[in-house]
Amino acid sequence: MKTSRRHFLAGSAAVSTGVSFPFHLAMAAPSDLHARPGTAQIAPAKYAPTKIWGYEGHVPGPVLRVKQGERLIRRFVNELPQPSTIHWHGIRIDNAMDGVPGMTQEAVPTGGSFLYDFVAPDAGTYWYHPHNRTWEQLARGLYGALIVEESEPPETDRDEVLLIDDWRLAEDASIAENFGAMHDWSHGGRLGNWLTVNGNGDYRLAVKQHERLRLRLINTSNARILSVQLRQMSGWVIALDGQPLEAPEPAETITLAPAQRADLIVDILAPDGGEAFLASAEGDSGYAIATFTVTGSARSETQAVPSPLPPNPVAPLPAADTLSSARVTDLKMEGGAMGRMGSAMMGGKMMGIRDLVGQGKAWSFNGMADMPAKPLLSAARGETIRIRMINETAWPHAMHLHGHHFRQLLADGKTGPLRDTLLVNRGETAEIAVVADNPGDWLLHCHMVEHSAAGMMTWFRVS
Ligand code: C2O
Ligand code: CU
Repeated sequence: MKTSRRHFLAGSAAVSTGVSFPFHLAMAAPSDLHARPGTAQIAPAKYAPTKIWGYEGHVPGPVLRVKQGERLIRRFVNELPQPSTIHWHGIRIDNAMDGVPGMTQEAVPTGGSFLYDFVAPDAGTYWYHPHNRTWEQLARGLYGALIVEESEPPETDRDEVLLIDDWRLAEDASIAENFGAMHDWSHGGRLGNWLTVNGNGDYRLAVKQHERLRLRLINTSNARILSVQLRQMSGWVIALDGQPLEAPEPAETITLAPAQRADLIVDILAPDGGEAFLASAEGDSGYAIATFTVTGSARSETQAVPSPLPPNPVAPLPAADTLSSARVTDLKMEGGAMGRMGSAMMGGKMMGIRDLVGQGKAWSFNGMADMPAKPLLSAARGETIRIRMINETAWPHAMHLHGHHFRQLLADGKTGPLRDTLLVNRGETAEIAVVADNPGDWLLHCHMVEHSAAGMMTWFRVS
């Protein structure tokens, strides 16, 4: 069954794209991507390696690269002791490939497999992670980068992917097993005590002075909001959540909520023998997230401001008058510690906060603490919808829309950059607009993954 489907797809693509594959390529088995337990030296060498779960047993998993418009085909093989799926975060994907258990597919059981096969329409920096028990599986190390290359990438000396993760380790550097801790779920989520870049707690890269790098930052933390600054290097933000900015913006403090990405172009300023840093802006002096050690020099001076990346084929928002008459749906966010939520609907009945907490729920969207049977909204394909996210909690939330990129509507008719995840601060109301042009059922949830598990999850339908 799987074999014939794969052959059929390979054959049909060769016809529909007009590309003729050499016979052996068209018939080649798709590569596998295994989720399995492994070990990783994420803590300093004096500790034993940490037992993790990773794609191909590594953390991060392999960097998957495709060219814009190409297909990615991977047979996901689950060798974990629990069911899992892969969600391709930020890809405007065919709904059937979105990896949401109970919605777009069944969770893949231990020993099972699932063929993911999709086209990546937009160039940029994306990532993949499980969408089942994400609060445990992501925290154990299941994530990797998915890079969709521009047909003409910007000129840099190199392109580096930096997956930044926040681990909660016990004293022996094993992963703290208190995944379901209700205190975390009702506060800021599972915050860790050990930061890594590409699975390394002391991430270093050897560079040259005046070398120009593209850095693709990906925040894979369960819940930590990162605040990143450049030291001894200058740089520009060229894309957010995979989507190019209209013009590069000087990189000052870059906020990366869970799941958010930023593409930077940086020029190393530190001299031969010196160091440059990506530093956390937390605290007075901050600490190094990544260290760039400088040997020699790439050229005699820094280069000009980079040009913008070419835009992706995302449908533009309609003109102001049409946009202002677009349908608005409210999404009221309530609950959490120091919140006022006294009760919410769960499983179709109204429940008090104590009972909700007993069921692992602490938050609600529009008064509902579990996935509603009915969608938040149903849109006709191509309709522009507006969602007003009203954060009545005492916590920030990283709101993520599946299958689409949206813009925030700002004051004076301005709009924010295209994003797939937006940080909505405590007490804030943020309105987004999106052209709902990707048919299917799509999630809208907080990407602080404990919050989504504890109630901050809903969905919308595009038909
Ligand atoms: Cu990155 Cu619904 O997820
Ligand atoms: Cu949240």
